[in-house]
Amino acid sequence: MQIAPFAVEQWMNAHETRCELNLAETCVESLTVAQLLDIAGATDTFLAEVRPLKLTYGAIEGSARLRTAIARLYASRAPGEVLLTHGAAGANALVYAALVEPGDRVITIVPTYQQHVSIPESLGADVVCLPLRAEAGYRLDLDELRRLLTPSTKAIALTNPNNPTGAVLDGETLEGLIGLAEMADAWLVADEVYRGASQEGDVLPPSIADLYAKGIAVGSMSKAFSLAGLRLGWICASTDLLRAVEVHRDYTTISMGMIDDLLAALALEHSDAILARSRAIVRTNLEILDRWVASEPAITYVKPAAGTTALLRYAPDLPSQEFCLRLLETTGVLFTPGSAFEVEGTVRIGYANNEAVLVEGLRRTSAFLRQLESAG
Ligand SMILES: Cc1ncc(COP(=O)(O)O)c(C=O)c1O
Repeated sequence: MQIAPFAVEQWMNAHETRCELNLAETCVESLTVAQLLDIAGATDTFLAEVRPLKLTYGAIEGSARLRTAIARLYASRAPGEVLLTHGAAGANALVYAALVEPGDRVITIVPTYQQHVSIPESLGADVVCLPLRAEAGYRLDLDELRRLLTPSTKAIALTNPNNPTGAVLDGETLEGLIGLAEMADAWLVADEVYRGASQEGDVLPPSIADLYAKGIAVGSMSKAFSLAGLRLGWICASTDLLRAVEVHRDYTTISMGMIDDLLAALALEHSDAILARSRAIVRTNLEILDRWVASEPAITYVKPAAGTTALLRYAPDLPSQEFCLRLLETTGVLFTPGSAFEVEGTVRIGYANNEAVLVEGLRRTSAFLRQLESAG
């Protein structure tokens, strides 16, 4: 099976462990095991819980305890409508493997996480990309979407909150999107890994899994829950869809690690505390980023509504990969080039990492921009 190289992941693999200040990281600053146990009040009990665990394959679809904790993140879904996967990356791959036949139309809202374009393409789908444009504040144009729908449309795919722009579908647009999907009898694949990294409100925003019978919500411990090291994601959808996914999952996944499952259950049983921490980080850090953008003449952006990322448009006339490589070489600061999302002239920042790293990274980026100006 031929598949396009995954531009963002290749960039991260090449540079992430070698940079000094990582502003490409998209997780809300990751928790240590000690911090997690502290939040869960399990510091003194965890080892006793783990020691007698016999390391079998465990519960194949994920433990009942974990699936129950995940189902609580949705208003109307039962534990049986949750299936554990190796990260959201595993979830997305399995969803498309189960859904897509050659010739099916898949409409993907871009820019996005490349899985939602390249995997259906590799499966022979007729993938059509519907762009969100900065000039329109990254609002989804429902009329454009309507024009792309055909009788062979199998799925509409999006990341919500969006990676990389941080845009969020407002209630009215979401309703319109669901109406169109319903009309076309299409699945709505919503990659919601940034759900909970909210700028507004203290409750989880609605999920597609609660709004639409053919809604497929993909979630993860990595981003809003700050636990990427667990490599644990999930699909929340109708049992029919999950049965179709399981046919593929048996070949690629079998089950999750038992210790990862246990730590994820502990975390989600304290999801209120973890999400409160995440909201505090994304709000403080977006304020820092917003002040910097306002004061930095060479940068403009559409302020994100949620999530952990933003697309920054820079003034210097340089391809984004060259911009990022030169920035990295001279300052140690890592961004992701917009070329990885096919949006030239921009870089993606992940602003929800460590606050001191963000502040120093932005300071050095300004110094780099001044250097470029004086050289040019
Ligand atoms: C939108 C989106 N989906 C999925 C993933 C993969 O997440 P996970 O770590 O759960 O595999 C990422 C990671 O950056 C992402 O941004």
